[in-house]
Amino acid sequence: MTGLSDSFQRPINYLRISVTDRCNLRCIYCMPPEGIPLMSHQDILTYEEIRTIVKAAAELGINKVRITGGEPLVRVGVPKLVEMLAEIETIDDISLTTNGLLLARYVAELKQAGLRRVNVSLDTLKPEKFQVMSRSRYNLADVLAGIEAAKAAGLNPVKLNTVIMAGVNDDEILDFARKTIHDGWHVRFIEFMPFPGNGAITSQFVSVGEMRKRLGQLGELQPCKSAVGNGPANYFRFPGANGTIGFITPVTEHFCFQCNRLRLTADGKLRLCLLSEDEIDLKQPLRNGVSNGQLKQLIEAAVAKKPLRHHLAEGQMPNNRPFCQIGG
Ligand code: 5AD
Ligand code: SF4
Repeated sequence: MTGLSDSFQRPINYLRISVTDRCNLRCIYCMPPEGIPLMSHQDILTYEEIRTIVKAAAELGINKVRITGGEPLVRVGVPKLVEMLAEIETIDDISLTTNGLLLARYVAELKQAGLRRVNVSLDTLKPEKFQVMSRSRYNLADVLAGIEAAKAAGLNPVKLNTVIMAGVNDDEILDFARKTIHDGWHVRFIEFMPFPGNGAITSQFVSVGEMRKRLGQLGELQPCKSAVGNGPANYFRFPGANGTIGFITPVTEHFCFQCNRLRLTADGKLRLCLLSEDEIDLKQPLRNGVSNGQLKQLIEAAVAKKPLRHHLAEGQMPNNRPFCQIGG
């Protein structure tokens, strides 16, 4: 394996794959209330096309992939995709980010297909607030059942992603923290990123510094190593807790210097950074019959264009796609 690195000498070994722009929820920090214009069926990469891209990327040094959406499990056959990717020899970690609603239904198949880990979005422990935050009629209980099913299937540790918004769910920070002490949960608090299409209400922003201050009421957080993975979160635990608390600070302390990732959108564009508009189309070249060698050259050229960092803190944000079309 040659190893892939960008023009700032960052090793790039991680690809996030969005398999659909569709979602059964409309979370207030992610989507506008009316939803988004949806991609058409022909716009979306087939699983075979995704496999071709991942194979080429794997030959260049990508060894970890994460499947995202929209909500990935609303697309039919995700376990099949997992199986296809697991067959690529040098891919040694396949994970999934989901809102959890359909997880209980698919988790056994996913695990069987080769899925290693799952992250579940969970922003509230209150059933009514779940419906408000997700602008839906679905039940929090189904998400919680999905989380338990994933644990029971051995997809441990299940990490929970919690976006904190002032006046919405910031009153639950301590409740989530208690779950790490008493129930062994692994919770990651994420700073809300104002984004075009999510309303961009900056007054709803809560910094990780503020979250930590409030958590001080429960005791002193001790730094610890991540249970798994080497993503952007910093991990802590309360004394005696089995679970952990992670903090993700996209706004107050960007972690771009350790960025190791690329993103593939559902419509076949390689996106170099979540927060920069630059994209390189792979779908048309694929449909025009590019060779594996040419595909690898396209990926390498894309990686060379990866920007150094985002500029959210300075108020700059990308405009060309809503968050839910990039996959978080
Ligand atoms: N700010 C922070 N995180 C977000 N996500 C989506 N939108 C935002 C936002 N505006 C993340 C959440 C969600 C995942 C799908 O993407 O973690 O759980
Ligand atoms: Fe769907 Fe996830 Fe966006 Fe919520 S955050 S609307 S679950 S893609």
